[in-house]
Amino acid sequence: MFVGYIEHLDQDRVGALQYLYVSLSNICNAHCAYCDVHSQPPPVRPFDRDDLTRIFGDARSLGCGTVHFLGGGEPLVAPRFADAVNACNDLGLHIAITTNGSHLARRLRSDLCGAAVDMIIVSMDSHRSQEHNAIRGMRRLWEWAVEGIIAARELTPSTHLVVNHVVTASNIRLLPEYIEWAGGLGINAINLIPVKDSPDLGATLEHVTWLAEHFMELTLEARAHGIELLCELEDVTEWRSRLLGVAGGREYRCAFPEHTLYIDFPTGSTFPCDCTIHRAPASTFDLGNIWHQPLSAIWEDERIRNLRKVLASPCDPGCKRDCDWNNVRTNRQLVTVGS
Ligand SMILES: C[S@@+](CC[C@H](N)C(=O)[O-])C[C@H]1O[C@@H](n2cnc3c(N)ncnc32)[C@H](O)[C@@H]1O
Ligand code: SF4
Ligand code: SF4
Repeated sequence: MFVGYIEHLDQDRVGALQYLYVSLSNICNAHCAYCDVHSQPPPVRPFDRDDLTRIFGDARSLGCGTVHFLGGGEPLVAPRFADAVNACNDLGLHIAITTNGSHLARRLRSDLCGAAVDMIIVSMDSHRSQEHNAIRGMRRLWEWAVEGIIAARELTPSTHLVVNHVVTASNIRLLPEYIEWAGGLGINAINLIPVKDSPDLGATLEHVTWLAEHFMELTLEARAHGIELLCELEDVTEWRSRLLGVAGGREYRCAFPEHTLYIDFPTGSTFPCDCTIHRAPASTFDLGNIWHQPLSAIWEDERIRNLRKVLASPCDPGCKRDCDWNNVRTNRQLVTVGS
């Protein structure tokens, strides 16, 4: 996900790798009902601070300004997280993090102290402790995450603070309360993500119809709290059409592989964005392996050049249908900016 990406993107440096997504491990301390992280295979090889410096250094030479740590697992419990942050600091790279929040307060006071943290995204599925901890399969996670959000506001006041809200049948109707709660914590944006690959948990047609009908009201309510809702009515309308079985394919130009890469350290594989790691066919989206070739070679390789061409056309190589709303929206803005 890409909040603030447009503002950071230098449109004149076409072809420069500007934003790097990184999954350091598949280790996680939570057990979210919809996440498959605990079924991922173990890492293919260990790596150390020198590997991180070399790979991030390559990214820096290709033009990268920001490294975004996410999962895979939980980045703030990854064994090499402190090394990765230190490597970014030494190379002058900015940092963004997507986290379950369990170790956020502690890391902000230690390894992240003094780092250039542009954005923190904390996953919060409910404003109620009991519901959040139940779906995330971890006792006291909500309490730690809220402590992390409060610490982020206090220690890094200029950091863009976002909450990822996975929307399910059990929390969708509580959005008005959720927005009010987020406003009280000084959150800048709420990223609504319909739960993927877990049909038993998903919102029903009735729920999504309710959301479409109340969408403008919710957007204005969020704005009144100083919060941006990272979702548009057309996204909700499309969601509803899918539940009705009448949605068409998504046709838009994707410019992500012109600016970004996702590195999955457990396997060493690289992908064009944060959504493609599980998309098939792997032969289309796996762009090369950092343990076998330098990042600069992957960035110039025929595989990524072919994918850039395919994604720049309206056709879907197999990822657009399940692309995150926020990435779709960023692409709409990129097309506008670049055209
Ligand atoms: C894979 S997690 C990794 C980072 C960190 N462990 C966390 O939970 O924030 C990244 C984001 O994906 C979301 N996510 C995971 N599985 C999902 C699914 N099946 N559908 C929608 N969102 C999902 C999480 O809630 C989280 O906001
Ligand atoms: S905290 Fe993140 S990585 Fe861990 S199980 Fe939940 S969604 Fe998956
Ligand atoms: S269209 Fe595909 S490559 Fe582009 S951002 Fe979406 S999932 Fe990623």
